[in-house]
Amino acid sequence: MERISETARWVAWARAEESLRPDALFVDELAVEVRRRYPADRPVPGRARALFVIRTRFFDDYLTAMAEAGLAQIVLLAAGLDARAFRLAWPDGTRLFEVDLPGLFEEKEEVVRVAGIRPRCSRVIVPADLTGASWTRELAAAGFDCGVPTAWLAEGLLFYLAERQSGRLLSALGRLSAPGSALGLDHVNTAVFVNARSRQWLATMERSGRGWRSATDEPQRWLARHGWRADVREPADADVCHGREFAPAFLPGESRPRRWLITARLPDAPGEQPPLPHEVPKA
Ligand SMILES: C[S@@+](CC[C@H](N)C(=O)[O-])C[C@H]1O[C@@H](n2cnc3c(N)ncnc32)[C@H](O)[C@@H]1O
Repeated sequence: MERISETARWVAWARAEESLRPDALFVDELAVEVRRRYPADRPVPGRARALFVIRTRFFDDYLTAMAEAGLAQIVLLAAGLDARAFRLAWPDGTRLFEVDLPGLFEEKEEVVRVAGIRPRCSRVIVPADLTGASWTRELAAAGFDCGVPTAWLAEGLLFYLAERQSGRLLSALGRLSAPGSALGLDHVNTAVFVNARSRQWLATMERSGRGWRSATDEPQRWLARHGWRADVREPADADVCHGREFAPAFLPGESRPRRWLITARLPDAPGEQPPLPHEVPKA
């Protein structure tokens, strides 16, 4: 498995720990199997764990809202060990594509087999490099239909891409997205590259081949340039954190490092704005 793909295990470990709590925000059997098979050397640090858990639940709610609003095509970009195909209650007819590097799926499909879990929708895996030129063709060859609205998710990916690569990815999503499509993604602000503690940690990531490459201080404007109307939240927001504590560390005098949790939509038709996920009335 590619070194970058090992980061998917870190998120799975946090999801496994969450799944065992009596007040769990979700239960992820795949993550529990990942932790059994590949035990973490030490527990996921509290701040990262809180972030991964809040983020998971945030994007669970986004995808559920979009599926309830009638989007029947879901694409998880850099899906990693994401188990949403197996654990969310999808409406009949939902097709879910998972795109990630080939080595990731070699591991994931084996864990899925051992865990004995079954997808609750039509699940299609697409081993491909999202920084390459061919992933859109591979997605189309796997059955993706660019004529119907899609709910995309890029969770835990964008900071690993250089700005140019993210720009190309967003342009590709624009070309593949029918009117009314939705996008969920997370990102970081540029303070993470200058603050003392995060720089130290990023240097370790860099040495292990998992360096972070980009950030944005203006996620709404950045996405608007690609045609998306975005709503930007943060993990500590009262209506996002579900009572869990998430406090980014920074020294006095430093800018606050920020994690953006973003949902966005493309217009339905010129001038018409479909509701953002949190605006969709509950069924
Ligand atoms: C932090 S994990 C997040 C996984 C998953 N989205 C989640 O939240 O559990 C990052 C994922 O990005 C994938 N990834 C990184 N670069 C990629 C690329 N160029 N093409 C496809 N996947 C990539 C890795 O393989 C890994 O699974």
